[in-house]
Amino acid sequence: MVKICCIGAGYVGGPTMAMIAYKCPDIQVVVVDISTSRINAWNSDRLPIFEPGLDDVVRSCRGVNLHFSSDVESHVADSDIVFVSVNTPTKTRGLGAGKAADLTYWESAARMIADVSTSDKIVVEKSTVPVKTAEAIEKILTHNNPGKHDFQILSNPEFLAEGTAIADLASPDRVLIGGRGDTEGGRKAIAALKAVYAHWVPEDRILTMNLWSAELSKLAANALLAQRISSVNAMSALCEATGADVSEVAYAVGKDSRIGPKFLNASVGFGGSCFQKDILNLVYICECNGLPEVANYWKQVVQINDYQKARFVQRVVSSMFNTVSGKRIAILGFAFKKDTGDTRETAAIDVCHGLLGDKAQLSIYDPQVTEEQIRRDLATAKFDWDHPQHLVPSSPTAASKQVVMAWDAYAAAKGAHAVCVLTEWDEFKKLDYQRIYDAMEKPAFFFDGRNVVDVDALRKIGFIVYSVGKPLDPWIKDLPAAPSC
Ligand code: NAD
Ligand code: UDX
Repeated sequence: MVKICCIGAGYVGGPTMAMIAYKCPDIQVVVVDISTSRINAWNSDRLPIFEPGLDDVVRSCRGVNLHFSSDVESHVADSDIVFVSVNTPTKTRGLGAGKAADLTYWESAARMIADVSTSDKIVVEKSTVPVKTAEAIEKILTHNNPGKHDFQILSNPEFLAEGTAIADLASPDRVLIGGRGDTEGGRKAIAALKAVYAHWVPEDRILTMNLWSAELSKLAANALLAQRISSVNAMSALCEATGADVSEVAYAVGKDSRIGPKFLNASVGFGGSCFQKDILNLVYICECNGLPEVANYWKQVVQINDYQKARFVQRVVSSMFNTVSGKRIAILGFAFKKDTGDTRETAAIDVCHGLLGDKAQLSIYDPQVTEEQIRRDLATAKFDWDHPQHLVPSSPTAASKQVVMAWDAYAAAKGAHAVCVLTEWDEFKKLDYQRIYDAMEKPAFFFDGRNVVDVDALRKIGFIVYSVGKPLDPWIKDLPAAPSC
Protein backbone atom coordinates (compact mmCIF):
# COMPACT_ATOMS: atom_id res chain seq x y z
CA MET A 1 0.00 0.00 0.00
CA VAL A 2 1.32 3.45 -0.92
CA LYS A 3 1.89 5.74 2.06
CA ILE A 4 1.58 9.48 1.67
CA CYS A 5 2.74 11.86 4.36
CA CYS A 6 1.91 15.57 4.21
CA ILE A 7 3.99 18.02 6.25
CA GLY A 8 1.70 20.91 7.25
CA ALA A 9 -1.88 20.44 8.46
CA GLY A 10 -3.12 23.88 7.46
CA TYR A 11 -5.77 25.25 5.09
CA VAL A 12 -4.17 23.37 2.20
CA GLY A 13 -2.58 20.27 3.76
CA GLY A 14 -5.68 19.28 5.76
CA PRO A 15 -8.40 19.49 3.07
CA THR A 16 -6.15 18.28 0.23
CA MET A 17 -5.04 15.17 2.08
CA ALA A 18 -8.58 14.52 3.30
CA MET A 19 -9.73 14.52 -0.34
CA ILE A 20 -6.91 12.18 -1.41
CA ALA A 21 -7.78 9.76 1.41
CA TYR A 22 -11.49 10.01 0.56
CA LYS A 23 -10.97 9.29 -3.12
CA CYS A 24 -8.16 6.73 -2.72
CA PRO A 25 -9.09 4.04 -0.18
CA ASP A 26 -6.01 2.06 -1.25
CA ILE A 27 -3.65 4.80 -0.05
CA GLN A 28 -2.66 5.51 3.56
CA VAL A 29 -2.50 9.26 4.23
CA VAL A 30 -0.92 10.82 7.29
CA VAL A 31 -0.93 14.59 7.84
CA VAL A 32 1.74 15.78 10.27
CA ASP A 33 2.41 19.15 11.85
CA ILE A 34 4.70 20.65 14.48
CA SER A 35 1.66 22.34 15.99
CA THR A 36 0.18 19.77 18.36
CA SER A 37 -2.85 21.97 19.00
CA ARG A 38 -3.66 21.93 15.28
CA ILE A 39 -3.23 18.15 15.12
CA ASN A 40 -5.41 17.71 18.21
CA ALA A 41 -8.10 19.82 16.56
CA TRP A 42 -7.94 17.72 13.38
CA ASN A 43 -8.49 14.66 15.58
CA SER A 44 -11.43 16.26 17.41
CA ASP A 45 -15.05 17.04 16.57
CA ARG A 46 -14.15 20.70 16.00
CA LEU A 47 -11.75 20.91 13.07
CA PRO A 48 -9.21 23.75 13.14
CA ILE A 49 -10.63 25.35 9.99
CA PHE A 50 -14.17 26.07 8.83
CA GLU A 51 -14.72 24.85 5.31
CA PRO A 52 -18.13 23.78 3.96
CA GLY A 53 -18.25 20.00 3.41
CA LEU A 54 -14.91 19.33 5.10
CA ASP A 55 -16.35 17.70 8.23
CA ASP A 56 -18.10 14.99 6.24
CA VAL A 57 -15.03 14.13 4.18
CA VAL A 58 -12.77 13.97 7.24
CA ARG A 59 -15.28 11.98 9.27
CA SER A 60 -15.68 9.38 6.56
CA CYS A 61 -12.01 8.42 6.40
CA ARG A 62 -10.31 9.62 9.60
CA GLY A 63 -8.96 6.61 11.50
CA VAL A 64 -9.37 4.45 8.38
CA ASN A 65 -6.84 5.68 5.82
CA LEU A 66 -6.54 9.28 7.00
CA HIS A 67 -4.53 10.11 10.12
CA PHE A 68 -3.36 13.30 11.77
CA SER A 69 -0.20 13.12 13.87
CA SER A 70 2.42 15.29 15.50
CA ASP A 71 4.96 12.50 15.22
CA VAL A 72 6.41 14.21 12.16
CA GLU A 73 9.68 12.35 11.72
CA SER A 74 8.51 8.78 12.01
CA HIS A 75 5.76 9.24 9.43
CA VAL A 76 8.04 11.05 7.01
CA ALA A 77 10.69 8.34 7.44
CA ASP A 78 8.75 5.49 5.86
CA SER A 79 6.46 7.31 3.40
CA ASP A 80 6.66 6.85 -0.35
CA ILE A 81 5.39 10.31 -1.23
CA VAL A 82 5.95 13.34 1.01
CA PHE A 83 3.90 16.46 0.29
CA VAL A 84 5.27 19.64 1.79
CA SER A 85 2.47 22.09 2.50
CA VAL A 86 4.06 24.39 5.04
CA ASN A 87 3.48 28.15 5.15
CA THR A 88 5.61 30.37 2.90
CA PRO A 89 4.83 33.89 4.16
CA THR A 90 6.36 37.14 2.97
CA LYS A 91 9.74 37.84 4.58
CA THR A 92 9.50 40.64 7.11
CA ARG A 93 13.25 41.05 7.73
CA GLY A 94 16.53 40.84 5.89
CA LEU A 95 17.18 40.44 2.18
CA GLY A 96 13.98 40.85 0.17
CA ALA A 97 11.94 41.89 3.23
CA GLY A 98 8.44 42.97 2.23
CA LYS A 99 8.37 40.90 -0.96
CA ALA A 100 10.39 37.68 -1.02
CA ALA A 101 8.89 34.43 0.23
CA ASP A 102 10.24 33.23 3.56
CA LEU A 103 11.32 29.66 2.90
CA THR A 104 12.51 28.96 6.45
CA TYR A 105 9.74 26.44 7.12
CA TRP A 106 10.24 24.80 3.75
CA GLU A 107 14.00 24.47 4.21
CA SER A 108 13.68 23.02 7.68
CA ALA A 109 11.14 20.49 6.38
CA ALA A 110 13.52 19.52 3.55
CA ARG A 111 16.45 19.08 5.93
CA MET A 112 14.31 16.94 8.20
CA ILE A 113 13.21 14.74 5.26
CA ALA A 114 16.87 14.21 4.32
CA ASP A 115 17.80 13.37 7.93
CA VAL A 116 15.08 10.88 8.74
CA SER A 117 14.39 9.13 5.43
CA THR A 118 14.75 5.36 5.48
CA SER A 119 13.65 4.84 1.85
CA ASP A 120 13.55 6.54 -1.57
CA LYS A 121 10.97 9.31 -1.79
CA ILE A 122 8.98 11.50 -4.07
CA VAL A 123 8.96 14.94 -2.47
CA VAL A 124 6.09 17.12 -3.65
CA GLU A 125 6.07 20.91 -3.42
CA LYS A 126 2.47 21.66 -2.47
CA SER A 127 3.26 25.04 -0.90
CA THR A 128 3.42 28.02 -3.24
CA VAL A 129 7.11 28.72 -3.75
CA PRO A 130 9.33 30.95 -5.90
CA VAL A 131 10.23 29.54 -9.29
CA LYS A 132 13.43 27.45 -9.03
CA THR A 133 12.79 26.40 -5.42
CA ALA A 134 12.88 22.75 -6.49
CA GLU A 135 16.53 23.20 -7.46
CA ALA A 136 17.42 24.40 -3.96
CA ILE A 137 15.36 21.65 -2.33
CA GLU A 138 17.04 19.03 -4.50
CA LYS A 139 20.45 20.25 -3.33
CA ILE A 140 19.42 20.17 0.33
CA LEU A 141 18.05 16.66 0.02
CA THR A 142 20.90 15.13 -1.92
CA HIS A 143 23.72 16.83 0.04
CA ASN A 144 22.25 15.89 3.39
CA ASN A 145 21.56 12.27 2.53
CA PRO A 146 24.52 11.50 0.24
CA GLY A 147 24.11 8.37 -1.83
CA LYS A 148 21.66 6.74 0.56
CA HIS A 149 18.27 7.36 -1.00
CA ASP A 150 16.87 8.73 -4.21
CA PHE A 151 14.71 11.88 -3.98
CA GLN A 152 12.55 12.95 -6.89
CA ILE A 153 11.15 16.47 -6.58
CA LEU A 154 7.81 17.36 -8.09
CA SER A 155 5.94 20.64 -8.16
CA ASN A 156 2.21 20.18 -7.57
CA PRO A 157 0.82 23.63 -6.69
CA GLU A 158 -2.63 23.85 -5.15
CA PHE A 159 -5.38 25.97 -6.70
CA LEU A 160 -8.19 25.54 -4.16
CA ALA A 161 -9.91 28.67 -2.89
CA GLU A 162 -11.02 28.86 0.73
CA GLY A 163 -14.74 28.57 1.25
CA THR A 164 -15.03 26.27 -1.78
CA ALA A 165 -12.03 24.04 -1.06
CA ILE A 166 -13.94 20.76 -1.04
CA ALA A 167 -15.73 21.43 -4.33
CA ASP A 168 -12.48 22.70 -5.87
CA LEU A 169 -10.59 19.58 -4.76
CA ALA A 170 -13.34 17.20 -5.84
CA SER A 171 -13.54 18.72 -9.30
CA PRO A 172 -10.41 20.73 -10.06
CA ASP A 173 -10.13 22.76 -13.27
CA ARG A 174 -6.69 21.20 -13.55
CA VAL A 175 -4.00 19.48 -11.54
CA LEU A 176 -0.45 20.54 -12.34
CA ILE A 177 2.49 18.21 -11.98
CA GLY A 178 5.91 19.58 -12.77
CA GLY A 179 8.89 17.25 -12.81
CA ARG A 180 12.03 16.15 -14.54
CA GLY A 181 10.42 14.46 -17.51
CA ASP A 182 13.85 14.18 -19.14
CA THR A 183 15.04 11.51 -16.68
CA GLU A 184 13.80 7.98 -16.05
CA GLY A 185 13.38 8.69 -12.30
CA GLY A 186 11.56 11.93 -13.01
CA ARG A 187 9.14 10.25 -15.41
CA LYS A 188 8.39 7.51 -12.86
CA ALA A 189 7.74 10.07 -10.14
CA ILE A 190 5.39 12.06 -12.36
CA ALA A 191 3.52 8.86 -13.25
CA ALA A 192 3.23 7.88 -9.56
CA LEU A 193 1.68 11.22 -8.55
CA LYS A 194 -0.53 11.23 -11.62
CA ALA A 195 -1.83 7.80 -10.56
CA VAL A 196 -2.92 9.26 -7.22
CA TYR A 197 -5.00 12.05 -8.81
CA ALA A 198 -6.26 9.75 -11.57
CA HIS A 199 -8.42 8.06 -8.90
CA TRP A 200 -10.91 10.88 -9.47
CA VAL A 201 -9.56 13.58 -11.78
CA PRO A 202 -10.07 13.01 -15.55
CA GLU A 203 -6.75 12.47 -17.29
CA ASP A 204 -7.10 15.48 -19.59
CA ARG A 205 -7.19 17.71 -16.51
CA ILE A 206 -3.88 16.41 -15.15
CA LEU A 207 -1.24 18.54 -16.80
CA THR A 208 2.41 17.55 -16.68
CA MET A 209 5.20 19.98 -17.45
CA ASN A 210 8.67 21.01 -16.44
CA LEU A 211 9.33 21.97 -12.83
CA TRP A 212 9.85 25.67 -13.42
CA SER A 213 6.70 26.03 -15.50
CA ALA A 214 4.62 24.40 -12.77
CA GLU A 215 6.14 26.58 -10.03
CA LEU A 216 5.68 29.75 -12.05
CA SER A 217 2.15 28.85 -13.20
CA LYS A 218 0.92 29.06 -9.62
CA LEU A 219 2.30 32.56 -9.13
CA ALA A 220 1.03 33.58 -12.56
CA ALA A 221 -2.50 32.30 -11.85
CA ASN A 222 -2.77 34.20 -8.57
CA ALA A 223 -1.29 37.33 -10.12
CA LEU A 224 -3.80 37.26 -12.99
CA LEU A 225 -6.74 36.60 -10.66
CA ALA A 226 -5.76 39.42 -8.32
CA GLN A 227 -5.13 41.67 -11.31
CA ARG A 228 -8.74 41.18 -12.42
CA ILE A 229 -9.98 42.32 -9.03
CA SER A 230 -7.68 45.34 -8.96
CA SER A 231 -8.78 46.17 -12.50
CA VAL A 232 -12.46 46.09 -11.62
CA ASN A 233 -11.77 47.95 -8.36
CA ALA A 234 -9.88 50.65 -10.24
CA MET A 235 -12.88 50.85 -12.55
CA SER A 236 -15.17 51.16 -9.51
CA ALA A 237 -13.48 54.44 -8.56
CA LEU A 238 -14.10 55.77 -12.06
CA CYS A 239 -17.72 54.57 -11.93
CA GLU A 240 -18.26 56.53 -8.72
CA ALA A 241 -16.74 59.62 -10.32
CA THR A 242 -18.87 59.37 -13.46
CA GLY A 243 -22.21 57.89 -12.39
CA ALA A 244 -21.63 54.54 -14.10
CA ASP A 245 -22.51 51.38 -12.16
CA VAL A 246 -19.62 48.93 -11.77
CA SER A 247 -21.94 45.90 -11.65
CA GLU A 248 -23.41 46.87 -15.01
CA VAL A 249 -19.97 47.55 -16.45
CA ALA A 250 -18.61 44.21 -15.13
CA TYR A 251 -21.65 42.39 -16.51
CA ALA A 252 -21.24 43.98 -19.93
CA VAL A 253 -17.50 43.35 -20.00
CA GLY A 254 -17.85 39.77 -18.73
CA LYS A 255 -20.23 38.91 -21.55
CA ASP A 256 -17.22 39.02 -23.86
CA SER A 257 -16.30 35.35 -24.01
CA ARG A 258 -12.62 36.28 -24.13
CA ILE A 259 -12.98 37.96 -20.74
CA GLY A 260 -15.66 35.83 -19.04
CA PRO A 261 -17.95 36.72 -16.14
CA LYS A 262 -16.10 35.34 -13.12
CA PHE A 263 -13.96 37.24 -10.64
CA LEU A 264 -15.20 40.67 -11.64
CA ASN A 265 -16.91 41.65 -8.38
CA ALA A 266 -15.79 45.06 -7.20
CA SER A 267 -15.05 45.02 -3.49
CA VAL A 268 -13.44 46.81 -0.59
CA GLY A 269 -10.27 44.98 -1.64
CA PHE A 270 -9.01 41.45 -1.94
CA GLY A 271 -7.65 39.69 1.12
CA GLY A 272 -6.50 36.21 2.02
CA SER A 273 -3.13 34.67 2.64
CA CYS A 274 -2.25 34.19 -1.03
CA PHE A 275 -2.82 37.05 -3.45
CA GLN A 276 -0.69 39.79 -1.91
CA LYS A 277 2.02 37.40 -0.78
CA ASP A 278 2.29 35.67 -4.14
CA ILE A 279 2.30 38.86 -6.20
CA LEU A 280 4.99 40.38 -4.01
CA ASN A 281 6.96 37.18 -4.41
CA LEU A 282 6.56 37.53 -8.19
CA VAL A 283 7.67 41.16 -7.99
CA TYR A 284 10.80 40.12 -6.11
CA ILE A 285 11.60 37.36 -8.61
CA CYS A 286 11.24 39.87 -11.47
CA GLU A 287 13.54 42.33 -9.70
CA CYS A 288 16.11 39.59 -9.09
CA ASN A 289 15.97 38.67 -12.77
CA GLY A 290 16.66 42.26 -13.86
CA LEU A 291 13.09 43.00 -14.94
CA PRO A 292 12.12 46.18 -13.03
CA GLU A 293 9.41 47.16 -15.53
CA VAL A 294 7.68 43.81 -15.11
CA ALA A 295 8.09 44.04 -11.34
CA ASN A 296 6.48 47.50 -11.28
CA TYR A 297 3.60 46.32 -13.43
CA TRP A 298 2.62 43.61 -10.90
CA LYS A 299 3.29 45.86 -7.91
CA GLN A 300 0.46 48.08 -9.11
CA VAL A 301 -2.03 45.28 -8.46
CA VAL A 302 -1.21 45.40 -4.75
CA GLN A 303 -1.02 49.19 -4.70
CA ILE A 304 -4.52 49.51 -6.18
CA ASN A 305 -5.74 47.06 -3.56
CA ASP A 306 -4.29 49.23 -0.79
CA TYR A 307 -5.83 52.28 -2.46
CA GLN A 308 -9.24 50.61 -2.57
CA LYS A 309 -9.20 49.86 1.17
CA ALA A 310 -8.03 53.41 1.96
CA ARG A 311 -10.66 54.86 -0.36
CA PHE A 312 -13.39 52.98 1.49
CA VAL A 313 -12.30 54.40 4.86
CA GLN A 314 -12.19 57.89 3.34
CA ARG A 315 -15.72 57.51 2.02
CA VAL A 316 -16.97 56.57 5.46
CA VAL A 317 -15.22 59.36 7.33
CA SER A 318 -15.79 62.14 4.80
CA SER A 319 -19.48 61.26 4.37
CA MET A 320 -20.10 61.26 8.11
CA PHE A 321 -19.29 64.97 8.35
CA ASN A 322 -15.55 64.35 8.33
CA THR A 323 -15.43 62.63 11.67
CA VAL A 324 -16.36 59.30 13.15
CA SER A 325 -14.90 60.13 16.54
CA GLY A 326 -17.06 58.55 19.22
CA LYS A 327 -19.57 57.30 16.64
CA ARG A 328 -20.63 53.68 16.72
CA ILE A 329 -20.01 51.84 13.47
CA ALA A 330 -21.27 48.31 12.91
CA ILE A 331 -18.84 46.10 11.02
CA LEU A 332 -20.63 43.22 9.33
CA GLY A 333 -18.11 40.57 8.37
CA PHE A 334 -14.45 40.28 9.28
CA ALA A 335 -13.29 37.19 7.33
CA PHE A 336 -11.47 37.86 4.05
CA LYS A 337 -14.39 36.28 2.12
CA LYS A 338 -17.57 34.38 2.91
CA ASP A 339 -17.64 30.75 4.05
CA THR A 340 -14.34 30.88 5.86
CA GLY A 341 -13.20 31.92 9.31
CA ASP A 342 -9.80 32.94 7.91
CA THR A 343 -8.80 36.56 8.51
CA ARG A 344 -5.32 36.56 7.01
CA GLU A 345 -4.83 39.86 5.12
CA THR A 346 -8.56 40.53 5.32
CA ALA A 347 -9.55 44.00 4.13
CA ALA A 348 -11.48 44.32 7.41
CA ILE A 349 -8.25 44.71 9.37
CA ASP A 350 -7.16 47.76 7.36
CA VAL A 351 -10.63 49.29 7.32
CA CYS A 352 -11.05 48.82 11.08
CA HIS A 353 -7.57 50.24 11.73
CA GLY A 354 -8.51 53.27 9.62
CA LEU A 355 -11.77 53.84 11.51
CA LEU A 356 -10.17 53.24 14.91
CA GLY A 357 -7.51 55.78 13.96
CA ASP A 358 -10.36 58.28 13.55
CA LYS A 359 -11.59 57.25 17.02
CA ALA A 360 -14.70 55.35 15.94
CA GLN A 361 -16.37 52.85 18.27
CA LEU A 362 -16.74 49.56 16.41
CA SER A 363 -19.24 46.78 17.01
CA ILE A 364 -18.14 43.80 14.98
CA TYR A 365 -20.06 40.75 13.89
CA ASP A 366 -18.82 37.83 11.83
CA PRO A 367 -20.56 34.44 11.76
CA GLN A 368 -17.29 32.47 11.82
CA VAL A 369 -14.47 34.58 13.21
CA THR A 370 -13.92 34.39 16.96
CA GLU A 371 -13.64 37.45 19.20
CA GLU A 372 -10.17 36.32 20.21
CA GLN A 373 -9.04 36.28 16.57
CA ILE A 374 -10.51 39.72 15.82
CA ARG A 375 -8.89 41.27 18.88
CA ARG A 376 -5.57 39.65 18.05
CA ASP A 377 -5.74 40.92 14.45
CA LEU A 378 -6.57 44.47 15.52
CA ALA A 379 -3.93 44.56 18.24
CA THR A 380 -1.14 43.34 15.98
CA ALA A 381 1.04 46.00 14.38
CA LYS A 382 0.59 45.83 10.63
CA PHE A 383 3.56 45.09 8.44
CA ASP A 384 3.90 47.56 5.55
CA TRP A 385 5.16 45.59 2.54
CA ASP A 386 6.21 48.77 0.72
CA HIS A 387 8.22 50.07 3.66
CA PRO A 388 9.30 46.87 5.41
CA GLN A 389 11.47 48.76 7.85
CA HIS A 390 8.34 50.34 9.36
CA LEU A 391 5.54 48.63 11.17
CA VAL A 392 2.26 50.52 10.85
CA PRO A 393 1.59 51.12 14.52
CA SER A 394 -1.47 49.54 16.01
CA SER A 395 -3.02 50.37 19.30
CA PRO A 396 -3.81 47.38 21.48
CA THR A 397 -5.61 49.77 23.82
CA ALA A 398 -7.79 51.05 21.00
CA ALA A 399 -8.49 47.50 19.92
CA SER A 400 -9.76 46.64 23.37
CA LYS A 401 -11.52 49.87 24.36
CA GLN A 402 -13.03 50.98 21.06
CA VAL A 403 -14.21 47.54 19.93
CA VAL A 404 -17.09 45.38 21.06
CA MET A 405 -18.28 42.12 19.55
CA ALA A 406 -21.88 41.49 18.61
CA TRP A 407 -23.80 38.20 18.49
CA ASP A 408 -25.57 39.08 15.26
CA ALA A 409 -25.99 41.85 12.72
CA TYR A 410 -28.95 43.38 14.59
CA ALA A 411 -27.00 43.64 17.84
CA ALA A 412 -24.05 45.16 15.95
CA ALA A 413 -26.22 47.83 14.31
CA LYS A 414 -28.24 48.78 17.41
CA GLY A 415 -27.54 52.43 18.20
CA ALA A 416 -24.98 52.67 15.39
CA HIS A 417 -24.47 55.73 13.18
CA ALA A 418 -23.32 53.56 10.29
CA VAL A 419 -23.08 49.99 9.05
CA CYS A 420 -20.13 48.74 6.97
CA VAL A 421 -20.40 45.41 5.14
CA LEU A 422 -16.90 44.02 4.75
CA THR A 423 -17.56 40.33 3.96
CA GLU A 424 -20.19 39.06 1.54
CA TRP A 425 -21.81 36.50 3.89
CA ASP A 426 -25.11 35.32 2.38
CA GLU A 427 -27.00 36.16 5.57
CA PHE A 428 -26.30 39.88 5.01
CA LYS A 429 -28.43 39.75 1.86
CA LYS A 430 -31.47 38.62 3.82
CA LEU A 431 -31.44 40.87 6.89
CA ASP A 432 -34.49 42.85 7.97
CA TYR A 433 -33.06 46.23 7.04
CA GLN A 434 -36.13 48.13 8.22
CA ARG A 435 -35.48 46.71 11.70
CA ILE A 436 -31.83 47.69 11.46
CA TYR A 437 -32.71 51.21 10.30
CA ASP A 438 -35.20 51.68 13.11
CA ALA A 439 -32.58 50.78 15.71
CA MET A 440 -29.89 53.12 14.34
CA GLU A 441 -28.98 56.77 14.96
CA LYS A 442 -30.11 59.11 12.17
CA PRO A 443 -29.04 59.88 9.56
CA ALA A 444 -28.33 56.17 9.16
CA PHE A 445 -25.35 55.52 6.88
CA PHE A 446 -24.77 52.25 5.08
CA PHE A 447 -21.42 51.49 3.43
CA ASP A 448 -21.50 48.30 1.39
CA GLY A 449 -17.96 47.14 0.62
CA ARG A 450 -19.21 43.99 -1.11
CA ASN A 451 -22.24 45.07 -3.15
CA VAL A 452 -24.49 42.64 -1.30
CA VAL A 453 -27.50 44.84 -0.55
CA ASP A 454 -30.27 46.17 -2.76
CA VAL A 455 -29.25 49.83 -2.80
CA ASP A 456 -32.64 51.14 -3.98
CA ALA A 457 -34.51 49.17 -1.30
CA LEU A 458 -32.24 50.54 1.43
CA ARG A 459 -32.56 54.09 0.11
CA LYS A 460 -36.34 53.69 0.20
CA ILE A 461 -36.13 52.74 3.87
CA GLY A 462 -34.18 55.93 4.53
CA PHE A 463 -30.53 54.84 4.62
CA ILE A 464 -27.83 56.97 3.03
CA VAL A 465 -26.11 54.29 1.00
CA TYR A 466 -22.63 53.96 -0.43
CA SER A 467 -21.97 50.78 -2.41
CA VAL A 468 -18.60 50.30 -4.09
CA GLY A 469 -18.67 51.48 -7.69
CA LYS A 470 -22.36 52.43 -7.68
CA PRO A 471 -23.82 55.88 -8.43
CA LEU A 472 -23.40 58.02 -5.32
CA ASP A 473 -25.99 59.45 -2.96
CA PRO A 474 -25.72 63.26 -2.79
CA TRP A 475 -24.76 62.77 0.87
CA ILE A 476 -21.71 60.72 0.03
CA LYS A 477 -18.84 63.14 -0.10
CA ASP A 478 -16.01 63.32 -2.58
CA LEU A 479 -12.66 62.09 -1.48
CA PRO A 480 -9.77 64.29 -0.54
CA ALA A 481 -6.93 64.12 -3.04
CA ALA A 482 -4.62 61.70 -1.22
CA PRO A 483 -6.43 58.99 0.66
CA SER A 484 -4.52 56.98 3.19
CA CYS A 485 -5.62 54.24 5.56
P1 NAD B 1 -1.12 27.28 7.07
O1 NAD B 1 -0.34 28.28 7.83
O2 NAD B 1 -2.58 27.15 7.29
O3 NAD B 1 -0.50 25.81 7.33
C1 NAD B 1 0.86 25.54 7.32
C2 NAD B 1 1.16 24.52 8.43
O4 NAD B 1 2.50 24.07 8.29
C3 NAD B 1 1.05 25.09 9.85
O5 NAD B 1 0.07 24.36 10.58
C4 NAD B 1 2.46 24.93 10.44
O6 NAD B 1 2.46 24.60 11.82
C5 NAD B 1 3.00 23.79 9.60
N1 NAD B 1 4.46 23.71 9.56
C6 NAD B 1 5.34 24.72 9.29
N2 NAD B 1 6.60 24.22 9.31
C7 NAD B 1 6.51 22.91 9.59
C8 NAD B 1 7.48 21.86 9.73
N3 NAD B 1 8.78 22.08 9.55
N4 NAD B 1 7.03 20.62 10.06
C9 NAD B 1 5.71 20.38 10.22
N5 NAD B 1 4.75 21.32 10.09
C10 NAD B 1 5.15 22.57 9.76
O7 NAD B 1 -0.82 27.53 5.54
P2 NAD B 1 -1.76 27.19 4.30
O8 NAD B 1 -2.77 28.25 4.12
O9 NAD B 1 -2.20 25.77 4.39
O10 NAD B 1 -0.74 27.35 3.10
C11 NAD B 1 0.31 26.41 2.90
C12 NAD B 1 0.94 26.68 1.56
O11 NAD B 1 -0.02 26.50 0.52
C13 NAD B 1 1.47 28.11 1.38
O12 NAD B 1 2.64 28.07 0.60
C14 NAD B 1 0.35 28.80 0.62
O13 NAD B 1 0.83 29.87 -0.16
C15 NAD B 1 -0.13 27.68 -0.28
N6 NAD B 1 -1.54 27.81 -0.70
C16 NAD B 1 -2.50 28.23 0.17
C17 NAD B 1 -3.83 28.31 -0.23
C18 NAD B 1 -4.91 28.76 0.71
O14 NAD B 1 -6.03 28.96 0.26
N7 NAD B 1 -4.65 28.93 2.00
C19 NAD B 1 -4.17 27.91 -1.53
C20 NAD B 1 -3.17 27.47 -2.39
C21 NAD B 1 -1.86 27.42 -1.97
C1 UDX C 1 -7.04 32.34 -4.08
C2 UDX C 1 -7.16 31.70 -5.46
O1 UDX C 1 -8.47 31.92 -5.98
C3 UDX C 1 -6.88 30.20 -5.38
O2 UDX C 1 -6.91 29.62 -6.67
C4 UDX C 1 -5.52 30.01 -4.76
O3 UDX C 1 -5.24 28.62 -4.63
C5 UDX C 1 -5.44 30.68 -3.40
O4 UDX C 1 -5.76 32.07 -3.53
P1 UDX C 1 -8.59 32.48 -1.93
O5 UDX C 1 -7.67 33.56 -1.54
O6 UDX C 1 -8.87 31.38 -0.98
O7 UDX C 1 -8.05 31.76 -3.27
O8 UDX C 1 -10.01 33.10 -2.34
P2 UDX C 1 -10.53 33.90 -3.62
O9 UDX C 1 -11.88 33.41 -3.91
O10 UDX C 1 -9.57 33.89 -4.72
O11 UDX C 1 -10.70 35.39 -3.06
C6 UDX C 1 -9.56 36.17 -2.71
C7 UDX C 1 -10.03 37.56 -2.34
O12 UDX C 1 -10.50 38.25 -3.49
C8 UDX C 1 -11.17 37.59 -1.33
O13 UDX C 1 -10.97 38.63 -0.41
C9 UDX C 1 -12.39 37.87 -2.18
O14 UDX C 1 -13.43 38.48 -1.48
C10 UDX C 1 -11.79 38.79 -3.21
N1 UDX C 1 -12.55 38.82 -4.48
C11 UDX C 1 -12.70 37.70 -5.22
C12 UDX C 1 -13.08 40.04 -4.93
O15 UDX C 1 -12.93 41.06 -4.27
N2 UDX C 1 -13.76 40.05 -6.11
C13 UDX C 1 -13.93 38.93 -6.89
O16 UDX C 1 -14.54 39.04 -7.95
C14 UDX C 1 -13.39 37.72 -6.42
